Amino acid sequence: MSEISGKGQVSIIIPTYNESQNIINILKSIKENIPKNISAQAIVVDDNSPDGTGKIVEDYLMSLKKMANYTIEVIHRKAKDGLGSAIMNGIQHANGETIVVMDSDFSHPPQIIPKLVESIKKHQCDIAVASRYIKGGNIKGWTFKRKFMSKFATLIAKKGLGIETKDPMSGFFAFKSNILKGKNIDAIGYKILLEILVKTKGVSIKEIPYTFQDREFGSSKLGVKTILDYYKSVWKLYRYGKSIEGNEKRSSVKFLSKAARFYTVGASGFAVNYLSSLLLTSGISEMWFLHANMIGIAASISSNFFLNKAWTFGDRDFSLKKTLKQFSKFIIFSSAGILVQLGMVYFLVDSNQIDYPFALIIAVIAAAFGNFVLNKKFTFNERLLK
Ligand code: GDD
Ligand code: MN
Repeated sequence: MSEISGKGQVSIIIPTYNESQNIINILKSIKENIPKNISAQAIVVDDNSPDGTGKIVEDYLMSLKKMANYTIEVIHRKAKDGLGSAIMNGIQHANGETIVVMDSDFSHPPQIIPKLVESIKKHQCDIAVASRYIKGGNIKGWTFKRKFMSKFATLIAKKGLGIETKDPMSGFFAFKSNILKGKNIDAIGYKILLEILVKTKGVSIKEIPYTFQDREFGSSKLGVKTILDYYKSVWKLYRYGKSIEGNEKRSSVKFLSKAARFYTVGASGFAVNYLSSLLLTSGISEMWFLHANMIGIAASISSNFFLNKAWTFGDRDFSLKKTLKQFSKFIIFSSAGILVQLGMVYFLVDSNQIDYPFALIIAVIAAAFGNFVLNKKFTFNERLLK
């Protein structure tokens, strides 16, 4: 740990992993953008970056003159332990009343820092989020796939956890340090803001638009593990929300859990289809394979229907007339789903230059989702959000 001087009113947490090409420039830019009447403490949290980021900052600090109201400190951690936990380490070390969290790769423009700090100090909000998803905000340099994943993850957070903030996945935000007092933050994965939003429900939040600009130097550290961590943390936060709200379930949550059952049934239908088509041609019946496959298909549609009726939608009324009526609607919607899927694959691959394997995933998910919604509303006569 090295330090240049004094205590800060605003602490800026800057996690780094292999940012040798960015770190000094971002520190300079942050300093230039902090209003002169504010004293600030920049805290770099480096995870022993193989490219020597930590050492580069140390050398830079040696060459700097002491400044009255701006200090830079480095926390050296032993190994790469994740963005969320790096930020938490920085927060624990910070002594500012206001804490700013931002990336070191210029995706988060330092020009926005004064606006964040000001909204907290002047407008008395507790959390100020730099937002890509409100009017005036934007993203530059991301692929369609990355944008899609970000939007999808945001949707899950908003619907599943009942969050109203438009950009709860932002990595760029400021908050009053006292709102975290007594809170236990797990900091799994990237999405520390989401966790703060869930665990400090009721505090006031303001969003400030900005344009996220993808990095010019170095590379993103977001990988499959980050994505899995995300879903893990959403699940934990969901459980957390339930534990403080008692048994009252949000309608959005019921909707999602039914959708999850519907998808599970779909996957089981695949197994039924495959296994029965195979079994019927073997020892026991030695049926012609096309007949066997037809029966396999019929078996899976039927098992899907009954499982969805009884389990997904909890409808235990098996009177013949009603069940047959539902069954025929179910078959019609399943056939429509096939068309939707074909149409989407064609559209995505043909016009948007998306790889076939990825397009297929989107299309299967979308078609199944369409099926789910239609069956929910028209086959099992439920309100959409129930
Ligand atoms: N200390 C430390 N340890 N720093 C890390 C680690 C880690 O394990 N992983 C990433 N970082 C640092 C990077 O050096 C960078 O400064 C910042 O955290 C963001 O990492 P990127 O790898 O550049 O993230 P990104 O650009 O893909 O993701 C951005 O967008 C997300 C929103 O969709 C980030 O802003 C995320 O914070 C944001 O949630
Ligand atoms: Mn980045």
